[in-house]
Amino acid sequence: MTATPRSLVERAVPLVDLTRVDEDLLSAAETLFSRLARSGSFTFGEELEAFEAEFAEYCGSRHCAGVSDGTDALRLALEALGVGSGDEVITVPHTFIGTLEAIAMAGARPVLVDVDPETRCMDPERLSGALGPNTAAVIPVHLYGRPAPMPELLAMCADVPVVEDAAQAHGAKIGDRRAGAFGAAGCFSFYPTKNLGAMGDGGAVVCDDEALADRIRSLRHHGSDSANSNRHLRAGSTARLDNLQAGILRLKLERLDGWNAQRRELAEAYRKALEGLPLTLPPADSPGASQVFHLFVLELDRRDHVLGTLRKQGVGAAIHYPTPAHLQPGWQHLGYGPGDFPVAERLARHSLSLPMFPGMTDDEITQVADVLGAALAQVER
Ligand SMILES: Cc1ncc(COP(=O)(O)O)c(C=O)c1O
Repeated sequence: MTATPRSLVERAVPLVDLTRVDEDLLSAAETLFSRLARSGSFTFGEELEAFEAEFAEYCGSRHCAGVSDGTDALRLALEALGVGSGDEVITVPHTFIGTLEAIAMAGARPVLVDVDPETRCMDPERLSGALGPNTAAVIPVHLYGRPAPMPELLAMCADVPVVEDAAQAHGAKIGDRRAGAFGAAGCFSFYPTKNLGAMGDGGAVVCDDEALADRIRSLRHHGSDSANSNRHLRAGSTARLDNLQAGILRLKLERLDGWNAQRRELAEAYRKALEGLPLTLPPADSPGASQVFHLFVLELDRRDHVLGTLRKQGVGAAIHYPTPAHLQPGWQHLGYGPGDFPVAERLARHSLSLPMFPGMTDDEITQVADVLGAALAQVER
């Protein structure tokens, strides 16, 4: 039996440390909270309106509707586009399950296509083989902060609307356009650990079409008419972004580009520190694009063993995602089985996410690299 290596980590390195990310905005957040608590303005209001205008501008879109979370952002975008029962929506099996849930909640059926082994995002060629007469929308996912190849995907879709799942890619770019601003709608999650995260749940849809934005705003508020909230134009739900979270997101939006730049520097430091180890590093940027490293995801053999060693040594590594969507127990009715999406299945077996968050130090990168190097040497012996 091989001995566990002596601990190389003086202090545990978490996957994400939000206390460090949020440190310099806590007093502004407290001031915001007491102002809103004293005003009683909790749903709708100035903070929400200001955030929507600022986030639309940041993304390069004309409109933004703040909603309750990323899953509802996708659901509402689909519903507002008229997607429903009998429709098919194409997406990928290598994603967070919320992407599929949104399709099912809208009443449509998820149709899956495998991802590209290099980008780990939707493969345009596989998409072209899956488009059919019942395809009502396509949802590419900008996974781990890397923009999916939008120009190529859009070229395949002709007049089928593309709804971007940009939950992991706030600020990522292809050329001078941001993720979320390519398709008919771009959907974001502000789950606390996201590149732009609320202090609770939140989400948004950005789009250029005013009528689409109006329908989303109506759907998030019981199908109400914007001119008369007691007039219900359609069946909606409660799916708003609240005023307090919007205010917190405004404080964070000012810092987003700085945080994303830090994430890119950390990724570069990892690349150098991990050079020569028997693993596959995350793909570099495509020409003209820039990823924002929501996660730093390696591929390696004996992944579960390595993960166990990292965790024992205090490194907060994780797997995104251990089981592809088509093999999840709750999604067997889609009729897929093992072997249907070999790239997604291989990624589920080999992917490993290392700690990545603004405020992480170079020393921590070195510590993680040392522990990983020792774990891989142990595996090779
Ligand atoms: C790719 C992706 N899609 C959708 C979601 C759903 O977002 P939320 O958790 O805010 O509903 C997430 C976030 O967890 C995600 O990472």
